[in-house]
Amino acid sequence: LARGVPEPDLAGRHVVVTAGGTREPLDPVRFLGNRSSGKQGYALARTAAARGARVTLISANAALPDPAGVDLVTVGTAEELRAAVLKAAGDADAVVMAAAVADFRPAVYATGKIKKQDDQEPAPIALVRNPDILAEISARRARPGQIVVGFAAETDDVLAHGRAKLRRKGCDLLVVNEVGERKTFGAEENEAVVLGADGSETPVPYGPKEALAETVWDLVAARLD
Ligand code: CTP
Ligand code: CA
Repeated sequence: LARGVPEPDLAGRHVVVTAGGTREPLDPVRFLGNRSSGKQGYALARTAAARGARVTLISANAALPDPAGVDLVTVGTAEELRAAVLKAAGDADAVVMAAAVADFRPAVYATGKIKKQDDQEPAPIALVRNPDILAEISARRARPGQIVVGFAAETDDVLAHGRAKLRRKGCDLLVVNEVGERKTFGAEENEAVVLGADGSETPVPYGPKEALAETVWDLVAARLD
């Protein structure tokens, strides 16, 4: 695919992309978070817009400039992300879950700042599970033929874990990144393999996040009717 003037192969399509990482508040000044920069999700949003799609970008705590030509929705927590995804996915042709969603959140939110006590050990933080948004939207597609894409970062047995996760989540495509010392988090470049529910396996060589984004949209476009 020649870069420069992209094929408008997503014209007339509505795509929803989530980006960044959720933050789960403990008290008014603290949260449980993760290292997702949002760069991969923003690259997905930009490239889809360049290919003619109407794009809803649901962004969780990404410190990045607003991309031009996309509808931006900002959220903080996994619950807020879920509500925004369910709302936007209603008429979406594709939903791409690039955001890092916290698996757990503090069971209790302290409305006042948690203070330390002299001569007392800190209390453990109780956690409860967050909803699995990807599994939920994969199980109940908002419209027939909607394509759902997940992302996974794995440290070992990348392909085996990726295959199992794809099946468990019920999505159409799963982008699997190998994470290590200098890979993925906050980096400009990425290496991945995209697994398809149809058994396909598309390796994406180490390169800019835009290139991975273009491959994801190629695979999505091929699956849209
Ligand atoms: N995801 C989600 N809701 C969650 C957790 C994850 O929608 N509560 C989505 C992520 O956006 C991502 C995909 O699921 O697209 C895979 O996330 P990952 O953390 O790799 O999957 P988990 O099932 O949480 O597995 P693990 O125990 O390895 O964290
Ligand atoms: Ca997880």
